[in-house]
Amino acid sequence: MSQPGTQPRSTTIPFVSGAGADGSHFAEFCAHPAKFLMRAHAECGELAEFDQGGILTVLMVGPEAQEAVFRAPDEQLSASLAYQYMVPIFGQGVQYGAPTAIERQQLRMHSQGLRAERMTFYAPIIAQEAAEWIRSWGESGEMDFYEGFADLTIKTSTHCLLGPEFRYSLTEEFAKAYHDLGAAVDASGTVDHTAQKAAYARRDEARGRLGDLIKSRITLRRAGKEEHDDLLAVYMNSTYTDGTHLTDDQIAGMVVWFMFAGHHTSANTAAWTLVELARHPEYCREIVQEIDGLYEDDPELGFRTLRKMPLMEGFIREILRARPPLNALSRRVVQDFHYKNHVIEAGKNIMLAPYVSHRLPEYYPDPERFDPHRPDQQNPFAYIPFGGGSRKCVGNAFAILQVKRIFCELLRHYEFELAGPADTYVEIMPSLILRPSDPCVLRYRRRQAA
Ligand code: HEM
Repeated sequence: MSQPGTQPRSTTIPFVSGAGADGSHFAEFCAHPAKFLMRAHAECGELAEFDQGGILTVLMVGPEAQEAVFRAPDEQLSASLAYQYMVPIFGQGVQYGAPTAIERQQLRMHSQGLRAERMTFYAPIIAQEAAEWIRSWGESGEMDFYEGFADLTIKTSTHCLLGPEFRYSLTEEFAKAYHDLGAAVDASGTVDHTAQKAAYARRDEARGRLGDLIKSRITLRRAGKEEHDDLLAVYMNSTYTDGTHLTDDQIAGMVVWFMFAGHHTSANTAAWTLVELARHPEYCREIVQEIDGLYEDDPELGFRTLRKMPLMEGFIREILRARPPLNALSRRVVQDFHYKNHVIEAGKNIMLAPYVSHRLPEYYPDPERFDPHRPDQQNPFAYIPFGGGSRKCVGNAFAILQVKRIFCELLRHYEFELAGPADTYVEIMPSLILRPSDPCVLRYRRRQAA
């Protein structure tokens, strides 16, 4: 395999204009990945080559190209090699820091912990956390809801993952370590995650502390006699195909991996959902009616009841179309990849961008219009907020359940409005996640009828 940075540019794929003096588009990419990728596609079409800080990268857009990439085997298009910058976060021995055969088995363990029947266990935990959150709100007020949802989803994840004892002893230390870990994931790290930046030193120190905190929980569990039903129990009881258990370091890595994959993505989806509900009172009214109807049928809102929310589901689906959190899905080409009359040589990267794909007017007419009543897209490779193929997000059902359950609680008790002019709530990308403006402040007021 040739090394990144050593291949010639393609002769058949257009090269994006506007490279800097170093021949690279990296500065523009880092400033706002989604905007850069939109520009690249508008200029070059289905395939666009650019220089991502020394790595030639081909952006591929549209269901046909996306299907080809998602269907390619790992041995040809490697996610693991493209995402090596995540290894210091999750740790060696798990996910992209483990051999593919081990990683695939670990993914199955995650999936086991997220099976539909286990959702009946998570739904009431999410409800309890959301209810505790709003208990302190009072009659009315204002808050930064991005921060609020980020805090809430840390609580829901730790509660579902590690149990109530851990959740209710959540220390400042844990929150700070987790924050330092996240602060080190930015677009520049996709090229050099070992640079001697202060943020990376804090990341490595934070990862060590988080690992220790999680391992001390595992030790306490082993010493106790109680049975647990959370994800930590799933990881502790799981075995590889050769019958061996995960090591404590691997279990800690699985916990961090799960938390990390689901945290900002879910918080972000919840924040956009609230912003768009406040921007579109007509849709919000329909959804409040749907939720009130559910409470009348089943005041506990069990998992089965939560599945009957077509309007809320349509709304979340449209949020994930218009504002997909992850937009630089990457693969390293290990064996030359042939697509139509093009060859993308080994050593290059391929990138898919849901944000760009979800704005193709042939699939989404008038794509900038927010319309939760859009018909479901029939081509599964046209709608890719959760990726596709064998690496499709294992947490998608959990994420949607979580957002739905949180909004049942919020909209049952409160009404919301934007605190600033609607056009000031814009898309920003300070890290690799597309999020609403910082701060993301909305006003709330207790519902009179609730
Ligand atoms: C709205 C929320 C979420 C979004 C938009 C999202 C999006 C994605 C995407 C696009 C991928 C594929 C990346 C690629 O192909 O390169 C992915 C993978 C993954 N997601 Fe999610 N995700 C969300 C929530 C979650 C949650 C809540 C969890 C955990 C419970 C989770 C766990 C994972 C895992 C473990 C993978 C890796 C799969 C693999 O490498 O094969 N995600 N996610």
